[in-house]
Amino acid sequence: MGLFSSRKSSVKKEAKFAEPPAAAPAPAAVAAASSDDLSLQKTEGFRRGSALATKQDLEAATLADFDVVRVLGRGAFGKVSLVQHKTSHEKYALKTLNKKMLVAVKQSKGAITEREVLKQKGHPCIVRLYWAFQDDESLHMVLDYLPGGDLYDRIEELREAAPGTGFPVARARLYAAEIALGVGHLHDAHGVIYRDLKPENVLVDAEGHARLTDFGLARVAAPGEAARGKSFCGTAEYMAPEVVVRGKEGHDKAVDWWGLGVMLWEMLHGSTPFDDENHAKVQKKIVEDVIEVPAATDAAAAALLTKLLVRDPAARLGAGPSGTADLKAMDFWQPLSWDKVYERAYPAEWIPPEAGAAPEPDDDDDDDSDDDEWHMHVPGAMGGKPDSKPDLFRGFTFRREASFVGPPETAKRGSKEQLTRTASRMKRQESKLK
Ligand SMILES: Nc1ncnc2c1ncn2[C@@H]1O[C@H](COP(=O)(O)OP(=O)(O)O)[C@@H](O)[C@H]1O
Ligand SMILES: [Mg+2]
Repeated sequence: MGLFSSRKSSVKKEAKFAEPPAAAPAPAAVAAASSDDLSLQKTEGFRRGSALATKQDLEAATLADFDVVRVLGRGAFGKVSLVQHKTSHEKYALKTLNKKMLVAVKQSKGAITEREVLKQKGHPCIVRLYWAFQDDESLHMVLDYLPGGDLYDRIEELREAAPGTGFPVARARLYAAEIALGVGHLHDAHGVIYRDLKPENVLVDAEGHARLTDFGLARVAAPGEAARGKSFCGTAEYMAPEVVVRGKEGHDKAVDWWGLGVMLWEMLHGSTPFDDENHAKVQKKIVEDVIEVPAATDAAAAALLTKLLVRDPAARLGAGPSGTADLKAMDFWQPLSWDKVYERAYPAEWIPPEAGAAPEPDDDDDDDSDDDEWHMHVPGAMGGKPDSKPDLFRGFTFRREASFVGPPETAKRGSKEQLTRTASRMKRQESKLK
């Protein structure tokens, strides 16, 4: 039995989200804007528009404040929906996690970490969190809506058009640079290991730039210590060898640079270096296979890949205190200035299509009977008393000081087409071993 359901529920059903939650949300632990938030103002992408003190500035949010438009994606513990704020009409992405499922698979800490990471980070290559709130059944995070979908869909488009090909080097380079900036910021400014780098977790914003989302597996270091993890986590094809072998030393931030190597390879060639139908074989390849960069690879990209896909984490590019700087010094990036990448000064090659007036309905499933089918199949996770361990999620609630950050990165543009959710995508989700 797969860990995750592959059923889609109908959008009509999502309208239930528009109803007020059964119980009042937990008391708000309203956080003041941190210095991170202020850094948002430095970048062009965040400067647009004036920041008025609206209802959003002043109050914590509840589900009743949003209309659900459609489902954007489904993941391990819940789903992400496109929503519209009822009074401001701004669009956001609402990520909803089922509490019982999180408890059943001991991932409640992951949800709190995710909120913690998203709350703090103000960076052009990282998705922003506006509100976090909860009700009896679920945790909710209101995020920037990024209308370009995720990189999985962008790579899938290429695979369909011409199997075996990837993005042109310049396009892959800019995405990889943006991912590297986001990851480097997490490592160096916040002592956070991301641990789940893969195309599904990199979103494309309205201007075509890449941003990291999904911090459910991220690990925050305690003050003064370098983040180190021991859990066997991630998605099979992107796991670093030290995670696969589960050595007693655990793993550190170098896992993210391995992940960047796998992703850059996939962006350039349309498939990962350790591709296989069978997860055990994927893991075996990660640990044992001779890694040979395809001959057709751009020479500077090949040199970078060879240094990123080094099995010994201590010898891998990006390990050590000056890791991010070492990575940035590689020739592959030479056509780019890192400051300009940060400022989003390079026009993206692919920009999401113009938003239609109304989003396309999710018309592929009108079956109302599977209301809860998006939940992961965990025995005992469903039913019973809601929120039986409310303390586990204490402090989840959050409200960003909107007057510090300006308006959301909302959908000037929006994806017209319904995102394709292929069988292979579901398969990869199932491979997310936690
Ligand atoms: N802010 C967003 N804007 C647009 N699409 C999103 C957004 N966040 C998530 N998605 C879509 O939903 C999917 C699942 O979201 P994610 O946060 O990765 O959840 P999970 O932790 O369950 O993997 C993503 O792969 C992406 O396709
Ligand atoms: Mg994800």
